[in-house]
Amino acid sequence: MRKRVVFITGVAGEIGQALLKEVAQAEGYQVVTLDLQPLPRELQGLSHHIQGDILNQSLLRRLITEYDVDTIYHLAALLSTRAEFAPELAHRVNVDGTLALLQLAAEQSERRGVPVKFIFPSSIAVYGMPDQTVKQINPQVKEWEWNEPATMYGCNKLYCERLGVYFSHNYQQLAANPGTRLDFRCVRFPGLISAFTVPAGGTSDYGPEMLHAAAQRRPYACFVREEATIPFMAMPDAVTGLRALAQVPQEALSRRIYNITSFSLSAGEFRSQVLNAFPNAEITFEPDAKRQAIVDSWPAGLNDEAARKDWGWQPAYDIDRAFAEYLVPNIRERYR
Ligand code: SER
Repeated sequence: MRKRVVFITGVAGEIGQALLKEVAQAEGYQVVTLDLQPLPRELQGLSHHIQGDILNQSLLRRLITEYDVDTIYHLAALLSTRAEFAPELAHRVNVDGTLALLQLAAEQSERRGVPVKFIFPSSIAVYGMPDQTVKQINPQVKEWEWNEPATMYGCNKLYCERLGVYFSHNYQQLAANPGTRLDFRCVRFPGLISAFTVPAGGTSDYGPEMLHAAAQRRPYACFVREEATIPFMAMPDAVTGLRALAQVPQEALSRRIYNITSFSLSAGEFRSQVLNAFPNAEITFEPDAKRQAIVDSWPAGLNDEAARKDWGWQPAYDIDRAFAEYLVPNIRERYR
């Protein structure tokens, strides 16, 4: 019998690297990965890696039909700051790439009579708070509130969420006998913080950047105001969330799109946490108007009650544990 396959796109990014380590340890699956970049050296051997473009449709088709794909983690994307500089490219990668993969996964589900699980990371960027007063009086937004993204990346993510739902319920609805449907599941992440990688091209990057800079004794000028507040999560919780959502029985899910979060921090509070661990860190605030506006448009926190109720979501790392047990010791070790 062919081995069942987990397919991860965008594996060389931050989430991908962390996820691959965990998925590769799970028994009974072969892992196939795709990225424009080669796998980082320490991850080589954990998967069958293909260096290629998510926009290469014939490559995608070959991969999806050649393997018995059970679950897809579709992580490949251009993040929010980068997407503002290259909106058309962002649309191609974030939307066209996702659409092509959804279509192939839907066809495979139908052909095999078994739903392919399509796990998609979305983002706080799908929200658009109209002003700071509204942001303050709505500290924990629900999934259906304020879905008015201010960035190309947020538009791309919100639309792809809808495409995933469409392919799970309505794709080819005029066919006489619609077959087995795709099983799309999505988490909306807050800003993610890893101890082992540094983000590139995002707008929540000031958090992890200030921490990694402090550990390297480099001064850091934060590109948002001290008061700017968004939710964050430690990377191990992000990986746990994705894997837990992939494993939960479909009957337990009351929706396909779930907020998940850990803790909210202002940039000033983030700095204080960094100073606790690295008292000599030089962190100043030099807001960049455009990136500040993006962070202002994101909510200060997420309501993740549905994920807690339906599939038992609970982050292992609150602020104190994230810094004391995961971030600070691992980052110290990394730059020793
Ligand atoms: N971390 C992402 C970004 O900053 C948001 O999902 O673009």
